[in-house]
Amino acid sequence: MSLVEKIDLQRIPRHIAIIMDGNGRWAKERNLDRSQGHRKGLDVVHEITNDAADLGVECLTLYAFSTENWNRPQAEVDALMALVVYGIERETPGMIENGVRLSVIGDTSRMPIEVQKRLQKCIEDTAGGKRITLNLALSYSARWEIINAAQQLAQKAADGIIKPQDINEETFAAHLTTAHLSDPDLLIRTGGELRISNFLLWQLSYAEFYFTNEYWPDFNKESLCRAIIEYQSRERRFGKTSEQVKTNDKA
Ligand code: IPE
Ligand code: IPE
Ligand code: MG
Repeated sequence: MSLVEKIDLQRIPRHIAIIMDGNGRWAKERNLDRSQGHRKGLDVVHEITNDAADLGVECLTLYAFSTENWNRPQAEVDALMALVVYGIERETPGMIENGVRLSVIGDTSRMPIEVQKRLQKCIEDTAGGKRITLNLALSYSARWEIINAAQQLAQKAADGIIKPQDINEETFAAHLTTAHLSDPDLLIRTGGELRISNFLLWQLSYAEFYFTNEYWPDFNKESLCRAIIEYQSRERRFGKTSEQVKTNDKA
């Protein structure tokens, strides 16, 4: 039985978020420049997006560049920005053809204007995509996002548009960059680190976590299937008892 056959297609996680880590170590092990690890990582993004879409995943959020990554050596930051432009250029026609819709979350105003323009154009060009949403987290950090939401709400309260007591989970979530998306069901982190690195702190409240030592450039369809199979073996209780969850399942 192949790994794909072990997957219950009726219970595919609707939204998968991935911390794509390990590009640098992958490159170092091969005596390559770190940027070549990122370059290989881009090819994996292409493959995994199509694999996820084939399995019926509705949204794939990929952590591509964090707020903290701005502190990397300038040459690496420049290489990553150039790679975004190259990737958008290379992938847009295929995305349109395959029904992949681009979405971006993060403080993109910090990115070079050329990169912002290309991203915006790709978002517009792929807006009709219905097969999967590819949501790229670029210049993103969860603390930035939460502070940004708090500022917007505080401004609305100060302007008399809302009352402080109108702020609840729903209105707060509506001011996050992910307002247009459901919360991730499954979080995958490659590269062996067991941490969240300032990613989707609000949205991952009830996600299932899956960590693998595999470096992102080595991640493939089998790796994705293994993560989904593990996800499907878990019981998501959302605070309830196992008995309650089982009764609901039957109802
Ligand atoms: C993840 O790979 C990609 C980005 C953060 C842009 P890394 O570049 O962090 O790779 P390692 O962790 O150094 O191996
Ligand atoms: C997390 O990876 C950010 C991305 C994958 C874009 P890092 O490599 O930056 O995370 P830390 O620094 O090891 O926590
Ligand atoms: Mg890393």
